[in-house]
Parts: sequence; structure tokens; C-alpha cells
Amino acid sequence: MSQDNFFANMLLAWYDVYRRELPWRGETDAYRIWVSEIILQQTQVVQGWGYYRRFVEHFPNVVSLARAEEDEVLKLWEGLGYYSRARNLYAAAKQIVAAGEGFPRTYEAVRALKGVGDYTAGAICSLAFGLPVAAVDGNGYRVLTRCFGIADAVDTAIGQRTVKELAQSLVPNMRPGDFNQAMMDLGAKVCVPRPQCNDCPLVDMCVAHAEGRETAYPKKRGKTKVTERRMAYVVVRRGEDVLIRRREGRDVWRGLYEYVLVDGGTKEPDLMDNAVLQSLWQTERGVLKTLRQGIKHVLSHRRLTVDFYELVLSAETELSEQAKAEGYFFVPRERLDEYAFPALFNKVEL
Ligand code: ADE
Repeated sequence: MSQDNFFANMLLAWYDVYRRELPWRGETDAYRIWVSEIILQQTQVVQGWGYYRRFVEHFPNVVSLARAEEDEVLKLWEGLGYYSRARNLYAAAKQIVAAGEGFPRTYEAVRALKGVGDYTAGAICSLAFGLPVAAVDGNGYRVLTRCFGIADAVDTAIGQRTVKELAQSLVPNMRPGDFNQAMMDLGAKVCVPRPQCNDCPLVDMCVAHAEGRETAYPKKRGKTKVTERRMAYVVVRRGEDVLIRRREGRDVWRGLYEYVLVDGGTKEPDLMDNAVLQSLWQTERGVLKTLRQGIKHVLSHRRLTVDFYELVLSAETELSEQAKAEGYFFVPRERLDEYAFPALFNKVEL
């Protein structure tokens, strides 16, 4: 860091007056900071807040998290999306406890935890341990590319390296955690997509402002491709029981629960072509009812169009071998809320 880090000084002075009051501000416990940062990786502060509180109340330290069942962790995460965050958090807690040395205290050791990238490692180490390491989130990218007029696209490896190196050169030895959070808060309150430059402490040194082209930054090379997927879910009922399964494999929603899935790929799902439904139909005709059709649900790289049906079987119907082989089992309806389902399912009254 240069001796007279004008950028850091201005930013910190602004932060001392205008920072956001967030539940983890002033927190120095590395475990809690870790949880908050993982939640906020893909979640807005307003949404993450309640989840953070519930999570640390339920699991107050890394040992309690490591001792939990994965289902319990996912249940607390229900509705937040990007569930690999919860799975990684849980796996990393187990790693930490197995190593028996408490929460790791160096940047390299924190960075090695499952689900922890450069940003999160920087945030944990600067906030919890006062280490002078940068943590640049999406807001930070906007602040830095504008202020320093960075022409590299931020969705390229070169652009990311440029911004990270710049941030690292600016982090002060004093108050590195506040510096990182100040950049995030400035990006969240002032240097927003349509910036309020009159309120900005950095306006006099901002390249984008001098150019009159604030919204040209951060530069991007191209958007990631989003694929369209069609699918149907059939809520199979037998008396008071409902048929569900836990999603396995490497796909989205791993570890969450679902009803009988009919995956159409890019085409309209064909209920008649589904082996599980066929096997249940063979034993019992049942009554198929349409609940909702054409529900849209957007994930990071997929746009889903989903139909929901209900199939009511008689109370004596046996669970077919096919359904068992595909992991389905019956649970009593009143126990459904013990299982974590994707947020998509909240869009239908079931
Ligand atoms: N977003 C993610 N982590 C944050 C933090 N510590 N402060 C402000 N915004 C954040």
C-alpha cells in the first residue's frame, strides 16, 4: 500500500458516517463471518439477514454444524437457492472439526475450505483476523473499474486479475476489513448501476465520472448462455401419503426433495413416457389432475417451464419396484415440512 492511500482514506471516512448497519457488523467470530459471507455470495442482504440469524442460532459454532445431519442444514437453507453453498459449508465444517485445530487462521488455509473462493477468504481473513487482504465482490468490481477506468472485461480471467491486483494494492494495513466492507457498501448505496455521484467520496478521482461514462463500467465480454428446460412434477398421493425423493447426482437442487419428476429436456414432458408413473398406473389407474401449467422459474443458467399435476392413488396401492429403484418413498403429508424443497414448489398450492 502506498503511504498516502487517498482512495482508502476517503473511502473509510465515508464508511464511518454512511455504512449500513448489518447484523454481522462488528462481528469478529470467524465462523459467523464465514456463514454470513457464504449466505451473501448469491443472496441480497435483505433476504440473507433472517437466514443468517436463524442459521447461527441453530448452529452457533463450527462443531454444532459439523455434528448436524445434512438434511437439517438444507432445511435451514430452504428458499435461499444455490444449495451447493450449504452443502459446502457443512462439508467444510466437518473438515475443520476433523483436523482438530479450530477455525483456520491463514489466508491459504481458509481459501482451501470447500466453497471458499478468493472473495470469501479475503472477507473472512480481513474481517475476523485483520489481515490486509482484498475481498472484492460484485459491488467492488463496479467501484474499482469505474474509479480507475479499467477497460478489461470483468468476465474474463485478465479482467478479474487486474481488479484483484488493484484491490490488493489499495488495502490498508489498518482496518482492512472495514476497507473491504466500505467498498461493498459504497457499491450498494452510491456506486450503484445508475450511480449517485454527488454523494460519492471518490468523485474527484473517478475516471468514469471524468469521462462522463459511469455506466460503461464494468465492461463485460458477453452474457452466459441460458438454456430452456421443460419439466413436469406429479404430486402422487396415496391416502394421506405423498411420494417424494431426495435429489442425488451432480445436478441442481442436489440434496433437496422433489415429487415425481418428468424431465422433458428441451421438449414438452410426456407423462405417458415416464417409467415411475407407468409402474404406478399399472397397479392402479388413479386420477390425474392438472394443478398448474407453464410456471416459469429462473436459475443461474437455466430457465425452467414447469407443469404440476396431481395423481391420486387408492389407499391400498403398493409402491412399485420402479419407483423404489428411482429413490421415491411415501411420507405422511403432515411431515412434508420436515423436508427441504426447491423454492419453485412454493409457486404452487399443493
Ligand atoms: N456483502 C457481502 N458481505 C458483506 C459485508 N461484509 N458487508 C457488506 N456487504 C456485504
